[in-house]
Amino acid sequence: QGSNIIVEPVIDSTNQYMLERIPSLKSGDACLAEYQSAGRGRRGRQWISPFGCNLYLSMYWKLDQGPAAAVGLSLVVGIIIAETLNKISKSKVKVKWPNDLYLNDKKLAGILVELTGKTGDAAHIIIGIGINIGMGKNNINKDKEINQEWSSLADEVDYIERNELSANIINALKDALVLFEKEGLLPFLSRWFELDNFLGRDVKLLIGEKIITGIEMGINQQGALLLRQNNGEVIPYIGGEISLRSN
Ligand code: ATP
Ligand code: BTN
Repeated sequence: QGSNIIVEPVIDSTNQYMLERIPSLKSGDACLAEYQSAGRGRRGRQWISPFGCNLYLSMYWKLDQGPAAAVGLSLVVGIIIAETLNKISKSKVKVKWPNDLYLNDKKLAGILVELTGKTGDAAHIIIGIGINIGMGKNNINKDKEINQEWSSLADEVDYIERNELSANIINALKDALVLFEKEGLLPFLSRWFELDNFLGRDVKLLIGEKIITGIEMGINQQGALLLRQNNGEVIPYIGGEISLRSN
C-alpha cells in the first residue's frame, strides 16, 4: 500500500508532528519539513535544522512485537539509510551504534526512534531521520552551533534530488521493516558488520558517570553492542543511556 506523505516548509519537530497524529496514521506514512524550529536528538538534545538544505523525515510504523523490539528496529533504520546513501556517496557512509550515521569519521545523520504503547501491546513507532545534505555549502554554515565534528553529503555528491532520496529511503525502510518483523535482526547482522564505523577500534562507552574501554566487536542478535575488554572477555551492552566514543 502506498504511503501518505506530508511535506511542510516549517514544522517544530517532524517527530512531534507525527506523534500528535498517531491515530490517523498507517505504517509507512511519513512527513518531511524544510526547516525544524525545535528539531531534537536523544535525551533532550537539539538537532540543528537549517532551512532548505537537509533532510528532516519522520515515518510511522506499527510494530506488533511491542516496544521491546524498538532497539533492533533503530539499528535496521541505520543500515537502510547507510545503504541508500552509499548508492550515491563517493566516500562510504557508516553506522555508529546505536543511532548515528558517520561520513569520514564525523556525524552525518541521526536517528531518533520515539514510541507509545505498553509492554504486551503493539508499539506505535515514529522513526525520525535527520541527514545533512547541503549544510556547509552556500554559506549555510551552522558548525558553530554543533558541539561535535559533523559532515554533510554536499562534498560527496555533485547533485542530490531530495525528493527522490526521500522516496528511496521510505520504500527501502518499509521493505526492511517487514523483513525485521518476520525474522528479527538476523538477516541484518552481516550488513551491520559491513557498515560499522568502529568495528575493531579502541572505543569507550559512557554509561552515566561510568567509562568502560575496550575494542568494539559489532553487535549481537539482540542489538547489543559487543565490547572486548582488557581481560579478553566480550560483554554485550544495551540501553538508551549508553554513548559510544572513539578512544
Ligand atoms: P550519542 O547518541 O552517542 O550519545 P550524540 O552526541 O550524537 O551521541 P545525540 O543525542 O544522538 O547525541 O545527537 C544530538 C547531538 O548531535 C547534538 O548534541 C549535537 O552534538 C549533534 N548535532 C546536532 N545537530 C546536528 C546536525 N545537524 N548534524 C550533526 N550533528 C548534529
Ligand atoms: C540523534 O542523533 O540524536 C537523532 C537526531 C534525529 C533528528 C531527526 S530530524 C527529523 C526528526 N525530527 C526531530 O525532531 N528529530 C528527528
